[in-house]
Amino acid sequence: MKIKLCREKRVKPDYSKLGFGKYFTDHMLVVDYVDGKWSEPEIVPYGDFSLAPCTTVLHYGQGIFEGLKAYKRPNGSIALFRPRDNLIRMNRSAERLCMPTIDTELILKGMKELLEIDHDWIPSQPGTSVYIRPTMIGTEAALGVHPSKTYRFFIILSPVASYYANGLAPTKILIEDKYVRAPLGGTGEVKCMANYAASLLAGDLANKKGYDQVLWLDTEHKYVEEVGSMNIFFVIDGVVKTPALVGSILPGITRDSVLKLLKKFGIPAEETRITVEEVYAAHQQGKLSEVFGTGTAAVISPVGILGYKNEELVINGNNMGKISQMLYDELTGIQYGEKPDTFGWIERVK
Ligand code: COI
Repeated sequence: MKIKLCREKRVKPDYSKLGFGKYFTDHMLVVDYVDGKWSEPEIVPYGDFSLAPCTTVLHYGQGIFEGLKAYKRPNGSIALFRPRDNLIRMNRSAERLCMPTIDTELILKGMKELLEIDHDWIPSQPGTSVYIRPTMIGTEAALGVHPSKTYRFFIILSPVASYYANGLAPTKILIEDKYVRAPLGGTGEVKCMANYAASLLAGDLANKKGYDQVLWLDTEHKYVEEVGSMNIFFVIDGVVKTPALVGSILPGITRDSVLKLLKKFGIPAEETRITVEEVYAAHQQGKLSEVFGTGTAAVISPVGILGYKNEELVINGNNMGKISQMLYDELTGIQYGEKPDTFGWIERVK
């Protein structure tokens, strides 16, 4: 690993006003793919890239990313949560977009080294962490529509607090009945940039109506899929239900962790196809006791209001429910080292 440290450390932001994804640490990891092979990873000062105006990613969106977090624990150690699962998923995204796969162990080693170098940027206030963004872009300078011949992989680090501005306060989500996020056979189950670009208009229209985000349905507008920044769970009649991974939904690592925690605690849970009508009927019958989203950025985010066809369905009196709170406490307890890591999810950096 080549390491070039910056001469001057940048001024750190006010850690009580971090928000999400606004600040970046002093260094980044960069690896280039040229002539069919990856170069040696380099850690360099955080800074701009220079790209030709005709670069592939700027025209055809050949770009993928991941999101994971590192946590500073009370004893000063740094912990990563399931990092290999993110890197394995990144390789699945790479294959779907005709991009080269990465050596997950080598990249994990580089990620740890980067975190050690910038360890003084990792916040320790409750609910804060460093959000890690591994990214890969096609860098060939040519306009023909074909897979790029060259790529850049990089990792940047951002000290963050909660994803939603109001922290753990219940969110307001609009059930989207016009636009769709991903058809079957599309790219919905991988983490490519285009999925997010395609979601912006619906999200923006929902924001204007006072909602935080939209809940996507399938192309027939029948089945519930995901929120885009998080997977979705419903507690109906005491059973926790989440949409099955049919091919258009991102297989979230927090989603998987939640399913494993529910099993451990003996709470009935199902991965199944859920119609929007079932959710509506459960609410009308008083059987929809909780709705929450799961994601690396979102952690466990309670949903307090679901907007559906000009109605607002209030969930649990617009309060975080018992199961959501238990899952939040358990998951963050494991991440910050306050609860035992019985699943072996934690990878120590130092
Ligand atoms: C994440 O939870 O890591 C995400 O990628 C969601 C969003 C910030 C894009």
